[in-house]
Amino acid sequence: MEYPVYLDNAATTAVDPAVVEAMLPYFLSAYGNPATLYGVGMMAREAVDHAREAVADMINASPDEIVFTSGGTEADNAAIKGVAAAYADKGKHLITSAIEHHAVLEPMETLAHSGYELDILPVDSEGRISLETLKSLLRPDTLLVSIMHANNEIGTIQPIGEIGSLCRENGALFHTDAVQTFGKIPLNVREQKIDLMSVSAHKLHGPKGIGFLYVRRGTKLHRFMEGGGQERGYRSGTLNVPGIVGLGKATELAKERMESEAKRLTTLRDVFIAKLMNTVSGVSVNGSRAHRLPNNISVCIEGIQGETLLLALDASRICASAGSACSTGSMEPSHVLKALGVSRDLARGAVRITLGRETTLESLDYTLDALERSVQGLRELSGAGTNY
Ligand SMILES: Cc1ncc(COP(=O)(O)O)c(C=O)c1O
Repeated sequence: MEYPVYLDNAATTAVDPAVVEAMLPYFLSAYGNPATLYGVGMMAREAVDHAREAVADMINASPDEIVFTSGGTEADNAAIKGVAAAYADKGKHLITSAIEHHAVLEPMETLAHSGYELDILPVDSEGRISLETLKSLLRPDTLLVSIMHANNEIGTIQPIGEIGSLCRENGALFHTDAVQTFGKIPLNVREQKIDLMSVSAHKLHGPKGIGFLYVRRGTKLHRFMEGGGQERGYRSGTLNVPGIVGLGKATELAKERMESEAKRLTTLRDVFIAKLMNTVSGVSVNGSRAHRLPNNISVCIEGIQGETLLLALDASRICASAGSACSTGSMEPSHVLKALGVSRDLARGAVRITLGRETTLESLDYTLDALERSVQGLRELSGAGTNY
């Protein structure tokens, strides 16, 4: 078994060696600016075109609907602020959900502070939005609905096809943050009636600092970086050629493996959850069991603090996450767990384990063993005993 046992793949992933290999020539030999006309520039441009085709193909889009960005955060910001600026006359009503990533929630709130009206959809105890509630909120002046495909903390998948149809019928644009799903579960922007979609390479064994925004042809978007006019004028700046090549290669690898990898990880996930619930008392699963990312295990464990448990796991060379539960050190439950209605006490024991390409049954059994021992030790230390 290889150490560390890396189980934080929702935070970021190891870059696939084949991706690194595909990127190297664009540092070392074909390093030209893709906007130039001589050989090394043209080689770079061809590689960018190839990557653009690969990512477009993955989501049933056209290459000219892809705008490369520095990642998911930029794509989310560009979509929300760019649509607001481009449709200043259409309407000032926005809808999002309570469990979005901050890269969506914050630009939405910024717009709400500058004259837009924002409705935040609640979610049920599994983290799913209600289509009925969404329907009742849609209005003739609703400009944009932004609802993520799957949540980064709890892995809950939203019915984005139905959401897309509702938005299209009601004349609202639909943006989805697909950072956690691109390359993991199928996406089809035409069938799912998506107008804008954010993706990041580093969640699918690609490099950090590169991603893209899908912009459906005909959707107006204000340019978000002014300068030399690259990316059809939306996002000026010399292209990050090695990053784009890496994203393209990671996409091709994900496409080949998506179906078998989803099956493999779903089995590993469910076996782990079942074993955990059998061996450790006081464990509850966060999110939906039926509509869940193949690689996500998010649980609350009674009588422990997630962050302390992580330190104990780290001593066994296991990398996991406490969810975003106590990210600010304030011990406030994360906004996602709060939206599910998880109590403050229980949310303290939130742990997120996210599987990836290197995860094996052996590494999960090792983790389970370490977890069991650590939970027992921490409960004894805190005097919580074994009443769980
Ligand atoms: C759902 C979601 N959206 C957006 C982001 C931000 O992506 P990036 O790190 O590429 O800026 C993340 C990353 O954590 C995410 O999980």
